[in-house]
Amino acid sequence: MPDIENENEADMSGAPAGTLAPEREVEKIGSRKLKPATMMMGHGYDPALSEGSLKPPIFLTSTFVFPDAASGKRHFEGVTGKRPGGADGLVYSRFNGPNQEILEDRLAIWEEAEDALAFSSGMSAIATLFLSMVRPGDTVVHSGPLYAATETLIAKVLGRFGVHWLDFPAGATADEIEAVMTKASSGRVALIYLESPANPTNALVDVEAVAAVRDKVFANAAEKPPIAIDNTFLGPLWHQPLKHGADMVVYSLTKYAGGHSDLVAGGLLGSKAQMDVVRSMRNTIGTITDPNTAWMLLRSLETLELRMTRAGQNAEKVCAYLHDHPKVERVGYLGFLEGAAGQERQADIYRRHCTGGGSTFSLYLKGGEPEAFRFLDALRIAKLAVSLGGTETLASHPAGMTHLSVPDARKQALGITDNLVRISIGVEDADDLIADFEAALDAI
Ligand SMILES: Cc1ncc(COP(=O)(O)O)c(C=O)c1O
Repeated sequence: MPDIENENEADMSGAPAGTLAPEREVEKIGSRKLKPATMMMGHGYDPALSEGSLKPPIFLTSTFVFPDAASGKRHFEGVTGKRPGGADGLVYSRFNGPNQEILEDRLAIWEEAEDALAFSSGMSAIATLFLSMVRPGDTVVHSGPLYAATETLIAKVLGRFGVHWLDFPAGATADEIEAVMTKASSGRVALIYLESPANPTNALVDVEAVAAVRDKVFANAAEKPPIAIDNTFLGPLWHQPLKHGADMVVYSLTKYAGGHSDLVAGGLLGSKAQMDVVRSMRNTIGTITDPNTAWMLLRSLETLELRMTRAGQNAEKVCAYLHDHPKVERVGYLGFLEGAAGQERQADIYRRHCTGGGSTFSLYLKGGEPEAFRFLDALRIAKLAVSLGGTETLASHPAGMTHLSVPDARKQALGITDNLVRISIGVEDADDLIADFEAALDAI
């Protein structure tokens, strides 16, 4: 975290000169580049600058003292974009703070992004990204379906300001993607926006194909639209889209990254130049996360790999059990794509892009709403709640809850049927979870 090393912070540490020399960042041991799981314990934070405190204090302040007037002016030149590269010191807490900067440095590490930004929610990250990219008359090209609030933002909110959209289905082939992008390219395309796997269908997007088509369709254009992708469901452990041609990655950090169902936050990863553009919008509208939430996320990131690995292993065991149960019609779990009839294209995308099936899946029970409700009401360990990616297992009924207001025809097209239960597996004991599901299936 560069800012904590400025003279302003050093003065605030109160450390007697010479006794607490700032430590150098450890990113390598010899020629070995340290892994994200190791970097999460200390990267971006120097205890020597905070009284030797092992963990970063929570910086509850709305503003930061400048060492002198010239520094204040220099910082504002960065904040206002008069000088590229953003502020080189801390200014005001709507722009940034120490906890948020450490969080951003650590978030970037997971996907080897150049830079990252933290937001007050996944939706404020998405909204700030769009607001910094679109102008009236532009088109947004996106995969479908998207998280419902993202669809509302694009179609209803941005639509009011003269922004158009064109979409292609999540599993589309390169030819299908090209047809949509070519149609959109008659005007200015502000952004290509993807979500993979899509919420709630779990359909994967071929990011490599989208990037190749974008490069082909816009080969002679003055500007190539950037590709942003919502990686909330599989990232950062099982899917790293920057390596497959995406330019920016969006997160609802509320889910796996936060991981304990006790905070709401968002993140955006990408190049420094792209993050500078979005940071400037965030500075204007104030969609940054607060210091306390940033601190909680630092704690969460220390166990991210452990939690996601365990949840993934649990989901594998639970899905294997559910797959063969006589009361189960089908399990929509990414780990089952390989070899599944009619899923060749999805399996191919999975093989090229993903390193694991995640822990959120769709369970189609035999029957309809009464059977689904009896199953949900009988669960004892799994909690009946929306959201996902927490340490605890959650189960919900999309048709009657998150997607209640979606028109019936669209629900049918997306496979949001009355017998569908969405499950997010946590880090409990897998056999306990299986016992819970077995008893609930018996109760149907
Ligand atoms: C895929 C996806 N993107 C974005 C969001 C929005 O995130 P938040 O609730 O943190 O605003 C969600 C929330 O469920 C989501 O599932």
